[in-house]
Amino acid sequence: MGNNILDFDTVCLSKDGEGIEIIDQTKLPGEITFLTLRTDEEIWRAINILQVRGAPAIGVTAALAMYVLSLKMPKGSYEEFRKEFTREKEYLDSSRPTAVNLSWALNKMDAVVKANEGMAPDDLIPLLKEEALRIYREDIEVCHAIGENGLTLVKKGDGILTHCNAGKLCAVQYGTATAPIYLGQEKGYGFHVFCDETRPLLQGARLTAFELQSAGVDTTVICDNMSAMVMKKGWVNAIFTGCDRVAANGDTANKIGTSVVAAVAKLYGVPMYICAPTSTIDMNTPTGDQIVIEERDPDEVTEMWYKQRMAPENVKVFNPAFDVTDASLIAAIVTEKGIAYPPYTESLKKIMEQE
Ligand code: MRU
Repeated sequence: MGNNILDFDTVCLSKDGEGIEIIDQTKLPGEITFLTLRTDEEIWRAINILQVRGAPAIGVTAALAMYVLSLKMPKGSYEEFRKEFTREKEYLDSSRPTAVNLSWALNKMDAVVKANEGMAPDDLIPLLKEEALRIYREDIEVCHAIGENGLTLVKKGDGILTHCNAGKLCAVQYGTATAPIYLGQEKGYGFHVFCDETRPLLQGARLTAFELQSAGVDTTVICDNMSAMVMKKGWVNAIFTGCDRVAANGDTANKIGTSVVAAVAKLYGVPMYICAPTSTIDMNTPTGDQIVIEERDPDEVTEMWYKQRMAPENVKVFNPAFDVTDASLIAAIVTEKGIAYPPYTESLKKIMEQE
């Protein structure tokens, strides 16, 4: 294997067609390791411990997973196959709660099974493969279109701040929030990008800074508590982040700390742009209050990354993985179908109604 992650898909079907190949993101940036996931437990764990992560990449993984797992499902009858399919779907759906792309992709795959009621499993499996590969290919096209739309919001030489990793590593290619940056890079825009390190799992420092630097983008890592300073200094012209779920009113769940960035951006007059494939927009969730926020292991805050524990034993820890940015703090939501502006209840509805 080569050693530039930009040359590889973050997630794809393995060469033998019976597994899912991913770049193990828990090992980056120190080691570029590829894993082939074959069993439901391997796939569940890879999503849960963030070997594969980021809303779109989780969705593509889930779609490919349902195809790969279907190869080993009982093939005696449609009913038997469907029962096992539903069990695996529900199992994978429990791996992480916040990113809607997981259930979105699982439901798309499930729809293929439901739409072909009574079909022999051997005939259904190729249809599942087709759908999984469609979701995979669509992810690449969608991210590219988000990049083109996002690029219209910035100009040459701009400073851009991003939080977490909504980069190539959160999708198959391009990423969402980094798509305008990569397209701009190709066109000589000369952006300089500030990457919040993103405590506690450091997706900004470990992943975003790594991939942007590999692509030759002028990249600076800052601790999360430094974003106000760089904004006050006037070094940031726009903020681009990704998201895990956009509610119908524009409230947006993304990596913990995003709402702090948005509040500070409002204070300093920096536009906060959320990059969202329409698969991340959940019109069934009316506002951010209904979004389930994942809480993770306290050790991620107190011990991980440190040589020795950095908080007293047994101290209480609150470790939510995401927060919700109020729609009022968001200047625009950039999708593959166009840019939604406030009021989001209307603009998102229009975008979702488009073909
Ligand atoms: O916990 P993670 O690393 O999966 O969180 C990812 C994020 O918060 C991303 O910003 C989000 O999924 C958007 S990726 C387009």
